[in-house]
Amino acid sequence: MLAHSLVVMTTHLPHTDILPHLENELLNVVTQFSAELGAMTDLTAIGNRIIQELCRAGATTHGALFLLDREHECYRRVSMIGSVSPTLMPLTFAMDHPLLHHLLTTNRIITRDDLAGDPQEADAGGGAHAAMERLQVTRLMPHFIKDRLIAFSLLGIATPVAEENARTTSVLAALTQIATNALDTIVLYEDLHRSHMLMKRTDRLKSLETIAGGFAHEIRNPLTSIKTFIQLAPQRKDDPEFIHGFSKMVLDDVYRIERLIQEILDYARYMEPKLTDEDFNDIVASCLYFIDVKANRQGIKIEKELAPDLPRVMLDRQQIKQVLLNLLLNAVDSMATSGGRLRVQTRKLAKPGGNMWVHIEIEDTGEGIHETNLDHVFDPFFTTKHASGEHEGTGLGLTIVHQIIQEHHGEIRVESSVGVGTTFFVSLPALPA
Ligand SMILES: Nc1ncnc2c1ncn2[C@@H]1O[C@H](COP(=O)(O)OP(=O)(O)O)[C@@H](O)[C@H]1O
Ligand SMILES: [Mg+2]
Repeated sequence: MLAHSLVVMTTHLPHTDILPHLENELLNVVTQFSAELGAMTDLTAIGNRIIQELCRAGATTHGALFLLDREHECYRRVSMIGSVSPTLMPLTFAMDHPLLHHLLTTNRIITRDDLAGDPQEADAGGGAHAAMERLQVTRLMPHFIKDRLIAFSLLGIATPVAEENARTTSVLAALTQIATNALDTIVLYEDLHRSHMLMKRTDRLKSLETIAGGFAHEIRNPLTSIKTFIQLAPQRKDDPEFIHGFSKMVLDDVYRIERLIQEILDYARYMEPKLTDEDFNDIVASCLYFIDVKANRQGIKIEKELAPDLPRVMLDRQQIKQVLLNLLLNAVDSMATSGGRLRVQTRKLAKPGGNMWVHIEIEDTGEGIHETNLDHVFDPFFTTKHASGEHEGTGLGLTIVHQIIQEHHGEIRVESSVGVGTTFFVSLPALPA
């Protein structure tokens, strides 16, 4: 890209004594522009930088960049500088605008002066020149990738009105080429990002479908018992044993439905994580504090080993809390009858390629998970907690945990042996803030 741009420039440069000095300066401008654009990942930022640099090189008062919007079949303004009235610089250009027509047929930078005496332009009805006059635009630079016009830039009136010189034109050509490549990359990147989001949403819909089906199944039994109770109650209202026994059961069923609904709502809430820069240990500590009383009551000893040198992590604090609480409460549940030891350890993890991750292990000495169940613990509605009432499981905890870790691009796995205990391993990439 760079080599190509430089060829463009040097072929137009006059060979004088100041040439080495000028060339150096141009090389710097071009190199720096290219490097800056390369480091940007945001379309608006790239657009602003491009139009700023083009205006500077063309010494113009105003300019704007328009990008192809395939969905709406037009070119949409992404950046503009200079104080320009909205009528002068529209938000969109229709595909059949005379300027675009002209750009597509000439395939090069167009100046207003070129157009004034252009026979082709006269054939086309003179629309392009008039449009440039109207927009107070002196230069029109196409951003072509192969034969596709992915964007174009408009530059306003030069200040002071500079005579056309070969140097300006060649510098602009080089900068336009660099800008074109940067725009091509960002457009591809955004397309990729969009389809990735779409895929994720489809995944979520699919799992919601499973969950909705499961939910219907799960509430059938409790609903039946509630219905039966209501049907029988009028005749049996004087039977205290019936009323007492059945109402306890029905209440448990209502609890169960309530819990299921709550967890499904938690799951269904669109879970695009809102990432903030966090101290992971701090979140772990606050979750441990939360379960401390319950653990104590069950005779569970908590051992915590929090690494002092953890990198900070970009994560959704609320969601990660939900993950840790689910894992910790499962561990506590597994030791409900026997008491035991809950070990929570964090450390930093260097992944191949040098990326830093934070890692946490949550290890219990509880009843363990049977080998045949190990593959199913993350499935929606998989639960072995069939005790009645408030202690019954929903089987959605680990499904949610898994989903959240996935959305954080992290990893989770479990090891367990019956009668010995269970360890959950969770790792999260320590993204730069
Ligand atoms: N630490 C653990 N020790 C033993 N079994 C576990 C542990 N964590 C999860 N499980 C098993 O995985 C199942 C699913 O867990 P989860 O999705 O949180 O649902 P729930 O806790 O509502 O049952 C649990 O019912 C249990 O059988
Ligand atoms: Mg659970």
